[in-house]
Amino acid sequence: METKKKVGGLAGVVAGKSAICTVGTGHGLNYRGYDIIELANLAQFEEVAYLLIFGDLPSQEQLQAFKHKLKIARNLPDPIKEALKLIPKDAHPMDVMRTGCSLLGCVEKEKPDFSNQEDISIRLLGIFPSILTFWHHYHHDKTEISTQSDEESIAGYFLEKLHRKPPKPLWVKAMNASLILYAEHEFNASTFTARIVTSTLSDTYSAITAAIGALRGPLHGGANEAAMDLIMEFSTQEEAIKGVRKKLENKAKIMGFGHRVYVKADPRNAIIKEWSKKLAQDVGDDRIYTISEGIEKLMWEEKKLFPNLDFYSASAYHFMGIPTAYFTPIFIMSRTTGWLAHIIEQRQDNKLIRPSSEYIGPQNRPYVPIQNR
Ligand code: COA
Repeated sequence: METKKKVGGLAGVVAGKSAICTVGTGHGLNYRGYDIIELANLAQFEEVAYLLIFGDLPSQEQLQAFKHKLKIARNLPDPIKEALKLIPKDAHPMDVMRTGCSLLGCVEKEKPDFSNQEDISIRLLGIFPSILTFWHHYHHDKTEISTQSDEESIAGYFLEKLHRKPPKPLWVKAMNASLILYAEHEFNASTFTARIVTSTLSDTYSAITAAIGALRGPLHGGANEAAMDLIMEFSTQEEAIKGVRKKLENKAKIMGFGHRVYVKADPRNAIIKEWSKKLAQDVGDDRIYTISEGIEKLMWEEKKLFPNLDFYSASAYHFMGIPTAYFTPIFIMSRTTGWLAHIIEQRQDNKLIRPSSEYIGPQNRPYVPIQNR
């Protein structure tokens, strides 16, 4: 796959070595040497999480033990529950997740020598779906949900807790694939943020909290929510084509399109688009998927821009009855695996990340005492 040559925003800059993921540059998208397409079609998200965090795919026994620990890690300690109750109903769910992560760092501290970093990794992966769904139901239905569940997978657990009923197997499969696709993507903005924080010898919670902050913006993870908002503006494909053309004329950015690294296509798109189509058929949608395809066609014709993972993730999540504001928090539930892998890797051969800037400000200005200004 070709990659872009650009300046600004550190584009094209190789900022370190990593054995976790390849993106573009002739290798395609691989997690620790495994093709993402194969993983998304065949693996369980928990296997991929294990692969990213520990370096190799688990044996059956290792996977079973890992899943068992993840299940225990769903539990919400009382201080977290109390804090979630205090966070307002109209808070952005990304802020809820960020706060939940930060607070957990106060309650279950990391050891200064990081010797419990693997336990913390499992804890964070397990607890994120509980944080979001507990906060959601407390504020929307005045109910304190239990984190107990027989659901084995993170995908199934999240859907069960959100909808408070056993999830459809098709939805669990789709969510599983989506979590795999979102799990890791090399030195993207949030992962690089996590590595910068880690490079100061700070703790895992601080690195993940900072990464969530970076992910929140619409140029990064927030694009899936913005894409849904865009799709929902239109009632028909014709209307969407007209409306998006107008936005392009007005130089607006269409969220869910384009990519810093990929030039012609995002390899993750084909898989999530297929899931979006299947889910559309499952719920009998005859509007949103068609509108999405119309926007995709127009974006290619007008700008040679292609949908990235966020565009069809938006409709796929929508078809599973997930509120739009929870799309980026789902990204957290997945990308935490990649962040953790990078935090652990950074610690293995740490060097403070501290680049320099080119100074372009004024020079040689004489100080004028305050009374003379
Ligand atoms: N809609 C409309 N125009 C777009 C666009 C989009 N989604 N993405 C890029 N462009 C245009 C820019 O306006 C710019 O045009 P110009 O040269 O005439 O000014 C050109 O393409 C280059 O874009 P730029 O933003 O400089 O590229 P980048 O490498 O810095 O940005 C993204 C990459 C992902 C930030 C960018 O494509 C974007 O903002 N996409 C929408 C947000 C999104 O989906 N983010 C999720 C990424 S996985």
